[in-house]
Amino acid sequence: MAKLGKLNKYGQEGQKIILEFEQGRAQIEVLTPYIVNVFYDPEKERVPSKAIEGSKSVSVNLALEEKKDGLWIHTGQVSVRVCDDFYVDFFDKDGREVCLDYRGERRPLERVSSSLLEQEGHSAAASVQQCKIQAVKQLKPSLHFYGLGDKTGFLDKRHYDYEMWNTDNPAPQVDCFKALYKSIPFFMALDDTHVYGLFFDNTFKGYFNMGQESEEYYWFGAEGGSLDYYYIAGDSMPEVLSGYTYLTGTAPLPQKWTLGYHQCRWGYVTQEDVEEIARNMRENDIPCDVIHFDIDYMQDYKVFTWNQERYHNDPDSFLDRLFRDGFKTVVINDPGVKQEEGYPIYDEGVKEGYFAKTPEGEVYINAVWPGAAAFPDFGNPKVRRWWGRNQKFLLDRGVRGIWNDMNEPASFNGPLPQDVVFMDGDRESTHGELHNVYGHFMAKAAYEGLKEFDGRRPFVITRACYAGSQKYSTAWTGDNCSIWAHLQMAIPQLCNLGLSGMPFVGTDIGGFGADTTPELLARWVQVGCFSPLFRNHSALGTRKQEPWQFGKEVLDIYRKYVKLRYRLIPYFYDLFYEEERTGAPIMRPLVFQYEKDRTARTCNDEFLVGGNILVAPVVQPGTDKKMVYLPEGVWYDYWTGARLTGPAWFVKDAPLDTCPVYVKGGSIIPVMEPQSYVGEKPLEELMLEVYPGEGSYDHYLDNGEDFAYREGKYHQYHFEVTEEGHVTGEVVHAGYGEPYKRILVCRRGGRGPEGAPWEELAAGCF
Ligand code: GLC
Repeated sequence: MAKLGKLNKYGQEGQKIILEFEQGRAQIEVLTPYIVNVFYDPEKERVPSKAIEGSKSVSVNLALEEKKDGLWIHTGQVSVRVCDDFYVDFFDKDGREVCLDYRGERRPLERVSSSLLEQEGHSAAASVQQCKIQAVKQLKPSLHFYGLGDKTGFLDKRHYDYEMWNTDNPAPQVDCFKALYKSIPFFMALDDTHVYGLFFDNTFKGYFNMGQESEEYYWFGAEGGSLDYYYIAGDSMPEVLSGYTYLTGTAPLPQKWTLGYHQCRWGYVTQEDVEEIARNMRENDIPCDVIHFDIDYMQDYKVFTWNQERYHNDPDSFLDRLFRDGFKTVVINDPGVKQEEGYPIYDEGVKEGYFAKTPEGEVYINAVWPGAAAFPDFGNPKVRRWWGRNQKFLLDRGVRGIWNDMNEPASFNGPLPQDVVFMDGDRESTHGELHNVYGHFMAKAAYEGLKEFDGRRPFVITRACYAGSQKYSTAWTGDNCSIWAHLQMAIPQLCNLGLSGMPFVGTDIGGFGADTTPELLARWVQVGCFSPLFRNHSALGTRKQEPWQFGKEVLDIYRKYVKLRYRLIPYFYDLFYEEERTGAPIMRPLVFQYEKDRTARTCNDEFLVGGNILVAPVVQPGTDKKMVYLPEGVWYDYWTGARLTGPAWFVKDAPLDTCPVYVKGGSIIPVMEPQSYVGEKPLEELMLEVYPGEGSYDHYLDNGEDFAYREGKYHQYHFEVTEEGHVTGEVVHAGYGEPYKRILVCRRGGRGPEGAPWEELAAGCF
């Protein structure tokens, strides 16, 4: 909110309403009947959004109305009231208040010893002062907040305050952390009557105070840039999220193998280390599609090099052998380019002016893994192309995916000063403005390079990101620890990332730092196998964390859940297809589907995979029972077939090998026989596990690899199930050359653990 004085006049330019106040101009733009942008900048030209590509405006019949209490803009779905001082209020189509600017006095929290707290950067008062621009909104008593990216803590963000400043803090990440690696300044607000989203598209260091300072208001602001936010209306959370991903994009359908199991460790140094992992995976019958290579594959941590000695001077043949055994190679790639004359990447970067500079025009140097290093200026499209092209070196070795790390950017010699010069397109900018989009631009560079030089659907993983990074990259949650608190946190953190438009996410299974325990790993894989990115990773110097390091019991449990994941890959793939079209995440908090259910709104230790599967994992040590909450409707216990009716709480026996899983009545779940890796055997039959109840399901099939599906080369099937569990189906789109030869159905739910015998669905049905 900016105190702009009286609203003197206004004008309309298309769907933009230009507002002339006593002390400045502001603007409201209606993009769709559901999405309204609020913009004010006292100083500058509007800089192009980093999150939103292209115009998102559709034609809307606006109605303007001058009333005593302000200027009203009606979109058909939303009414906006603009008042003096640029107070902006949002109402629903029936004129009910939804999101109002707060008019009262701000009362920053009183602190006992504010000087000490300010030194530590924790004072709310301090952040208020640092904010050049901010918006303060009324806080209704029962409002819950979701989203905000990868913040620590629990699902509902009410009562907490956060910062948007991509941060690599190696300390164990606990609830009072204000910022982690990602800055996604979007949240959804939900109460009994409404849900709405606010996306504050500002890349400067930002603050989100979600009712920590006051029970009467919440606020967000930033240290620079414009007041530029989008109000997103909708009748449900899925609709609001779909509005947000309409603006910032959805994650494109990935290659199917990326949904398999990934094994990683910082400490696989030589070819022999990797060979041993690959051999053990197959010998222990743990399906695995991907092995990740951490920094030691490089020569002296120099990007776009390969340590020849450690790979017997022939990494290409080794990667090829791995591939023939079903393992895809993903390699880490850090932005810091070693400062070393004679190293072509460094020399070329200096010569072409591709690195960030000091205000005096020198190449800016800090330190990362290779020691002294320069930082590619990814805001410059030429640099992105250069970087993307250099990835060809890795592709030529046989690499199939790129893991972008340290791209906050992290630096070992203190943080980069705010005034380091970066380019924003062809405009000179600063680290202060572009810090939060450094990882975003690096991901874009990686994605575009892979798309051009590999041609298949790019697989990129990033640690740092901004709103909209989902278009280019998956993400993992960085350096967690092998502690139970981090297994617990994984659920709300991944769910909130999904609600922030980042659907393809995962945590380091087993925990990155510190030594895991057999029990913790066994419980973690039970969560991990249901999370979109399924990767075990651990830090140098910690206890080995591969599935076979903990004895037979843990190995058997690990195998059971990796195989369960592989069984469900067709279901996961369908969810990704749905996500690309609607923005609905794969891993969903219960509230996403059951927003009227008050228990669901704060449920931190259960989640849904798509709309049909509910997972209630054990996330406490030493327990073999789980209190499970099932929302309304009929649910079937996945393991026993028992029929349960919600909303209700149940106590489920959950010994170490049991993760409680439930399937909604009326579900059709496509599964496949687990394989050692995706594509090991051709998929000739579709297997449908069916749970009685009225329902329908769309199943999607394509070659799982390239972009041919965008030209219609895919098959889509529509199935329906009745109360008695009877299934019918049809092909609704036939464009894929190798559809299934048979469709098999197994009626489960209420029929014991195995369900009824598999039966072939009559050919005429599809
Ligand atoms: C960072 C990454 C971690 C990686 C390590 C070494 O800490 O977050 O995943 O293993 O760097 O590259």
